[in-house]
Amino acid sequence: MKTVEIVEVAPRDGFQSVKPFIATETKIALIEELTACGFSRIEIGSFISPKAIPQMSDTPDILQRVKLPKGLRVMALVPNAKGLQLARNAGVKEVAWVVSVTESHNRANVNRSTEESFTNFKAAWTELGPEKPRLRFGLSTCFDCPWEGRVPEDKVIRAVERVIDMAPDVEIGICDTTGRAAPDHVADLFGRILPRYASDRITFAYHGHDTYGLGVANAIEAYRQGVRVFDGAAGGLGGCPFAPGAAGNTASEDLAFAFEHMGVKTGIDFGRLLAAADHVAAVEPCQAGGKLRSVPRKRALSGFGHASHGLSA
Ligand code: COA
Ligand code: ZN
Repeated sequence: MKTVEIVEVAPRDGFQSVKPFIATETKIALIEELTACGFSRIEIGSFISPKAIPQMSDTPDILQRVKLPKGLRVMALVPNAKGLQLARNAGVKEVAWVVSVTESHNRANVNRSTEESFTNFKAAWTELGPEKPRLRFGLSTCFDCPWEGRVPEDKVIRAVERVIDMAPDVEIGICDTTGRAAPDHVADLFGRILPRYASDRITFAYHGHDTYGLGVANAIEAYRQGVRVFDGAAGGLGGCPFAPGAAGNTASEDLAFAFEHMGVKTGIDFGRLLAAADHVAAVEPCQAGGKLRSVPRKRALSGFGHASHGLSA
């Protein structure tokens, strides 16, 4: 059976893009609704400076109070050793460490050179000893940078090699932070990376944004190249506050529909996800995105596959 994993990232990438503070209770209710949709993994919040993104400051509180299904994998973003320590103190078992491939975005995002960020990771990761959390290493700006434009593939490959050298057991997130990748670019990059580096211990995820309406097309190209883990945000909410011109993540419901319609199983209850996506989008409707929420619900829910056209009986 063909399958993919869609990782729900609205409770991190989605919420972080919203300026007015979303009440902790609201976040918890949305997370609980999302986790009832059948996702196997969710990203909840980040352990970052509260001055950088105040919206994420209630992450420890959320993690303590939210009720999650057994077996659900929970990931939280960390940018430095302090974040890693705080995440571990909060009981996080899976961290998403983030470094940008391009110097200018890394500076804007975490106030460090990429070299400093890699060196800091190596020191913090080594210091943990053998009891390490599970690692997603997110490489931001793998395709395009707001300040440096199109990112050379060799530069991304060098960053991938650097990560593998420091962390031989890792899921590397190849991120289109600005959403400006085109499907041929996605195919070229994964076509170079996967045959060379993917293994049982080194896996890859695609984290796409839908700024230019190419989110689903890009994910499908990544799938064709062999990627099986995709980040999405319900309601298409999201965006890095330090990447001007970047809009929301590719909507989880759009990804789920595209894959299921192609006969690729996601394990997601699509009806529940659409309802949850409406609620997430309502947090900041002017920033929400995605297509599937605006399809007449009956038609959207009439099934997947080529034989299903949503016709009334
Ligand atoms: N969590 C909480 N507080 C943190 C922290 C973390 N992970 N890292 C640093 N701090 C605190 C320090 O303790 C210090 O506090 P003080 O002023 O009370 O002494 C202050 O922040 C400055 O520390 P410093 O190490 O100099 O950080 P900085 O100002 O250079 O900022 C980051 C670096 C990484 C902490 C900051 O840029 C950041 O949080 N970026 C978030 C990026 C992000 O989430 N982007 C979107 C997702 S890709
Ligand atoms: Zn993102």
